[in-house]
Amino acid sequence: MYDVYWADWYLPSALPALENLFFSRLKRGTAVLDVCCGSGHVTSELIARGYVVTGVDSSARLIEIARRRLPEATFTVQDVRTLKMERCFEAAISTFDSLNHILELDGLRGAFAAIHETLFEDALFVFDMNLEEAYLSDLSQWHAHVQTDNVGLVRGTYDGRQKMARTELIWFVKSDRGDLWQRHRSVVEQRCYTEAEITAALTQAGFYNIGSMPAMQAGAAAELGYGRMFFSATASGRVQDRRLCA
Ligand SMILES: C[S@@+](CC[C@H](N)C(=O)[O-])C[C@H]1O[C@@H](n2cnc3c(N)ncnc32)[C@H](O)[C@@H]1O
Repeated sequence: MYDVYWADWYLPSALPALENLFFSRLKRGTAVLDVCCGSGHVTSELIARGYVVTGVDSSARLIEIARRRLPEATFTVQDVRTLKMERCFEAAISTFDSLNHILELDGLRGAFAAIHETLFEDALFVFDMNLEEAYLSDLSQWHAHVQTDNVGLVRGTYDGRQKMARTELIWFVKSDRGDLWQRHRSVVEQRCYTEAEITAALTQAGFYNIGSMPAMQAGAAAELGYGRMFFSATASGRVQDRRLCA
């Protein structure tokens, strides 16, 4: 569902921001880790830019699609909170608010520490996350996306005390058998963190030179922009964190 109906729209809207914050700062041939790469929509752009790309995601089914689609990249199924790579990278990226899928602050800290440990000193790390503003708009009404062979219904709820957002998706796909439509349902949970929590977690993991920029200011299109923040940070050479990439 994610691959076919959801993933497409992010990259065209985010491209100018990614160009400003990431692509323009890296030369071809750079070894890039695509964290939470999904089925490879952004990964394919990284490959097109001439980077040597490794993608990691906890979904085996999305990685299977990515492997089929992009045989020139390397992929691994892992949870980013406990990520362990056998090589080091010169840059890392994580797109489409993937890190909001980590539901506890300790998990986010673990993810940043694990990413830091796979990076060479001075490597660039860029990612985008939704801040609370993104979840406060009223999404509780069903929204329909209607196409010839599929109909999707989406609604979201946000619990401001727990900082938890839930997106419920129901979609119908026309089957090959006459007028039958197959119904699917999925619930996606996200946690919202403050900018201060994210910055502190990056610092604790060993990153420095930490910057943040609202998505639209970074160049993203308006439909992607609301409440979304791009972060960039540089990996330090902090020795205690570096078993592999020292
Ligand atoms: C919104 S998708 C973004 C995919 C891709 N970055 C893109 O831009 O198309 C979020 C991805 O994060 C992955 N994910 C969520 N939690 C994860 C975790 N703890 N470790 C690794 N991947 C995770 C999901 O499986 C999903 O593929």
